[in-house]
Amino acid sequence: MSPLEDGFSRRFYYLRLSVTDVCNFRCTYCLPDGYRPDGRKSFLSQEEIRRVVAGFAAMGTRKVRLTGGEPSLRRDFTQIIETVANTPGIEKVAMTTNGYRLKERAKEWFDAGLTALNVSVDSLDPRQFHQITGENKLAEVMEGIEAALAAGFKSVKINAVLLKGLNDQQLGAFLAWIKDKPIELRFIELMQTGEMDSLFRDHHTSGELIKQQLLGDGWVQQLRGQDDGPAQVFMHPQSQGGVGLIMPYSKDFCAGCNRLRVSSVGKLHLCLFGDHGVELRDLLSADAQQDELQHRIRHALTGKVATHRLHEGNAGMTPHLASIGG
Ligand code: GTP
Ligand code: 5AD
Ligand code: SF4
Repeated sequence: MSPLEDGFSRRFYYLRLSVTDVCNFRCTYCLPDGYRPDGRKSFLSQEEIRRVVAGFAAMGTRKVRLTGGEPSLRRDFTQIIETVANTPGIEKVAMTTNGYRLKERAKEWFDAGLTALNVSVDSLDPRQFHQITGENKLAEVMEGIEAALAAGFKSVKINAVLLKGLNDQQLGAFLAWIKDKPIELRFIELMQTGEMDSLFRDHHTSGELIKQQLLGDGWVQQLRGQDDGPAQVFMHPQSQGGVGLIMPYSKDFCAGCNRLRVSSVGKLHLCLFGDHGVELRDLLSADAQQDELQHRIRHALTGKVATHRLHEGNAGMTPHLASIGG
């Protein structure tokens, strides 16, 4: 069967699957103050997850990233990893986490088939970490990262959302930390979501400033591979760790889009911004619905637009990224 492709000849081998929108942290850029998850919502079950992943895998998906909210808050999370890892065709199973359960669970997840980990660390200063995430847990998260490397993960990616006047002064501390570690540190430009205004006005800044500092300090930009994510990656001869910049406000960001998203309630999202999602859940109750499921996904893809237009001031309809898994 031909791989998933949209009207702009972009191919999609990568699914980001949100397994819950509940989170135990309150990062200022992600979950608005006063946000309460809807307790009546039921997230995709193991069986539904198995079917949706099988449908994508049959159309060429090779990599699945488990996101949230905080994926590890699901009690059946280890089984979810196993289910996804055992799906024929799936070669990589990744996870984006706030690191909260990493110390106790890294080995269990690795053994279940998890192949890659992205951990959010917005600051190496404990007070600032607390201020940004709402939790005083920097030390635990750092221990979790060490536990993950010891458990067998070959490298770990660290996400820091770039916030002017806050962590933009932390570049030196971050670079010192990754110097002798197999870590790719990524700075992500703050994206404006539907429920955010003053934070964006006060703290959004361009990744270009970091890029110029890196280039000035002898860091070398790496060539992008065809299947690579959106980050521009930089390496330095004296540093084991690398730096990635994710700059969704740059004009060509979406040209290399290679991912599709399914929310924790079973909606297909073609983009992080500006789409209401296509219902898939009604086609996840029996294996006999696989043909129809695949047909619906393929058909939906014809509606994928060229760009989210963030760089033109579009804040989109996405209320916050935890709702569709970042
Ligand atoms: P890998 O290449 O698998 O490591 O994926 P990744 O870099 O996308 O991983 P991760 O989930 O850690 O992504 C980091 C953040 O980058 C996300 O939470 C988003 O904030 C942002 N991001 C990732 N993909 C997109 C995208 O398609 N569009 C936009 N606008 N932002 C994205
Ligand atoms: N802007 C940029 N990145 C965001 N994330 C969540 N909300 C935002 C936002 N408004 C990303 C961060 C975090 C991941 C879970 O989601 O990269 O590490
Ligand atoms: Fe939770 Fe991640 Fe959002 Fe922070 S960014 S509130 S850790 S989902």
